[in-house]
Amino acid sequence: MQPEESTNIEETVEEYGLKDHIAELDEIGLTIVPQSTLKLDDDWFDELRDAILRVGEARTGVHFDLSSGPYDDFGSRPGEIGHIILSHMIFEGQAFEKVLTHPVKKALMTYMLGSDHRLAVSDAWIKWQTPDNWEGESTTGFHVDQGMVPPPWNWRVPHIANMNWALTDYTKEDGALAYVPGSHRLERFPEPEEALPLSVPAEAPKGSLIMFHGALWHGAYRKTTPGLRVTMLGQHCRSYMMPFQDFKGRIPKEMIEASQNPDYLRSLMREGERNLRVEPFEVPGTPAARASCN
Ligand SMILES: [Fe+2]
Repeated sequence: MQPEESTNIEETVEEYGLKDHIAELDEIGLTIVPQSTLKLDDDWFDELRDAILRVGEARTGVHFDLSSGPYDDFGSRPGEIGHIILSHMIFEGQAFEKVLTHPVKKALMTYMLGSDHRLAVSDAWIKWQTPDNWEGESTTGFHVDQGMVPPPWNWRVPHIANMNWALTDYTKEDGALAYVPGSHRLERFPEPEEALPLSVPAEAPKGSLIMFHGALWHGAYRKTTPGLRVTMLGQHCRSYMMPFQDFKGRIPKEMIEASQNPDYLRSLMREGERNLRVEPFEVPGTPAARASCN
C-alpha cells in the first residue's frame, strides 16, 4: 500500500514487530494486535472500559453492569438492537486521547491513510444481549466505512480506516465485529445478503486492538450471551475529508500537553489545518471554540 509515500513508521514496525499485521491489512483488510504486542497492562484497559461505563451512565441515567447488562429494559421496545453509541468521547478525558496516540495505532493508521490523517469519529459502544424481538444474525448491517465516497475505490489508498479497542472479550457469541476477509480488494459495496454468508467473527480477547480498512465489508453478530461488550472505536480519514465529528479548536490545551504525542494529537484534531472550514461552536467543559480559519 502507498509505495510512493514515505510514512516514517519503520522504526515502530521494527520495535513492536508489526510486519505481519501490515501484511494482514493488505491481504485481509483487518488485523488484530494482541495486548502483549501493544505493551499495555490490564489496568490500562480496565480504566478505559470503566470510564466508558461511567459516561454511559452519566448520559443515559442507566447503570451498566459488566456481567448482567443495563439496569433498564431497553429491549422492551420493538426493533431495539441492544446497544448504545456514545459519541465525541475525546471530550471525556485523557483516557480517550491515549487510544489515539498509542504508537502501534499510529503506525498502522499511518500505513493505511498516510501521515496526515485526521480523527473522524470518537465513539464508544456498549452492547448487551440482543433482544429476542430483534430478527436476524447481525445487529449491525454489513457496510463499508468509506461508503460516503462513491466507488470504484483503489484498495491501496483507502479514504477511511478504523480502530476498535476490544475492552471485553470478543467472540461471535459475545456479538463480535463480523467481516469478510479480503473484501476491501473488491473495491465495491456488498450486494444485499451477499456479505453475511461469507463473514467471519473478529475473535479477540480483551485488550486487543482491531484495525481495519475503510472498504472492508463488516457488521456485527447478535450477542447471545448476558453481560456487556464494550468497545472504543475511532474512524480516521485522509486530510482532504471533513471529519464526521469535528474537534478542531475544542480540545483543552492541557489535554494536548499531557499527551504522549502532542504533535500527532494536534494533527489528528486538525489544529494546523487552514483550508477545510466549519462553523465554530462551544462544547460545555472545554474552552470556547476558536475561529475555524485561524
Ligand atoms: Fe463500520
